[in-house]
Amino acid sequence: MSTKRISLTQYLIEQQRGEAQIPAQLRLLIEVVARACKRIAINVNKGALGDVLGTAGSENVQGEVQKKLDVIANEVLIEANEWGGHLAGMASEEMDDMLGVPNRYPQGEYLLLFDPLDGSSNIDINVSIGTIFSVLKHQGGEVTNESFLQPGTAQVCAGYCVYGPQTTLVLTVGKGVVLFTLDREQGAWVMTEDNLRIPEDTKEFAINMSNMRHWAAPVKRYIDECLAGKEGPRGKDFNMRWVAAMVADVHRIMTRGGIFMYPWDKREPNKPGKLRLMYEANPMSFLVEQAGGVATNGTQRIMEIQPTQLHERVSVMLGSKNEVELVTSYHREAQ
Ligand code: AHG
Ligand code: MN
Ligand code: MN
Repeated sequence: MSTKRISLTQYLIEQQRGEAQIPAQLRLLIEVVARACKRIAINVNKGALGDVLGTAGSENVQGEVQKKLDVIANEVLIEANEWGGHLAGMASEEMDDMLGVPNRYPQGEYLLLFDPLDGSSNIDINVSIGTIFSVLKHQGGEVTNESFLQPGTAQVCAGYCVYGPQTTLVLTVGKGVVLFTLDREQGAWVMTEDNLRIPEDTKEFAINMSNMRHWAAPVKRYIDECLAGKEGPRGKDFNMRWVAAMVADVHRIMTRGGIFMYPWDKREPNKPGKLRLMYEANPMSFLVEQAGGVATNGTQRIMEIQPTQLHERVSVMLGSKNEVELVTSYHREAQ
């Protein structure tokens, strides 16, 4: 890319005028979410000095203990988004049901879904965490939980922010994937990559190996073959990484390739997986596909799944095209 750096605002104005033709309300929405992520980043950075570590003493709808930062990040996103007139409603990992826009504010056209703080178990140990979001168009009528139950293919925008050594924002409006880095001196998001592409091949996989004994046979077969290395059927050695924050694992894949899997397993056989379809798997799948990668649940493209519940879970395999297609073919053979 050229040496002249552009800001998020400039990029969005160009997208509004150019090929993507994003509407003004969507541009405002993205700016507001990006501003909220800056505020979350400030809270994250305070750590023990800001009373943001530890648990909040509550549980979310999925029975998970909420950390203080889960609650803070959720509040920051709500407060930032409720008054701008760009939203019809919001849904979050940390809220049982969708949240409408208060009557005193105008209602907009979009639905915003978010995982306000991804990788909560990393907060207290000072390891990368993030925010994931997905944007849908409201199809009209009263806004209810059902309004959000649109397949991932209906997303008009998705993105994530990583609070790591750098604070970065990765975004798609359906015209490729761009990366912004937070310039703290200017308080501005500055574009540092204009076209992220995931290499089709990789020698790196990400999966929580401690669950191996619970996996389905096709996942076990795929990982066993990776572990067999040069001498095995794959004829090459593989490396492994697991950050325990999907947002950071996906960011590594966006940067240098790899495959990320959180598959269905026998621990809770009635649940399709651990990760959530609406605000984790769908936005990440949109970004991964826009960067040339693939995202499936083992048998089906994730973005084509028709959701039936706001907090629906899903099995996830995403990243470098040839690896995701291979493990998906193992699942289809086993059907
Ligand atoms: P969250 O913190 O939003 O609940 O999400 C955590 C998720 C995901 O980000 C990560 O990949 C996975 O949980 C880690 O799970 P394990 O602890 O089972 O490895
Ligand atoms: Mn999460
Ligand atoms: Mn979360």
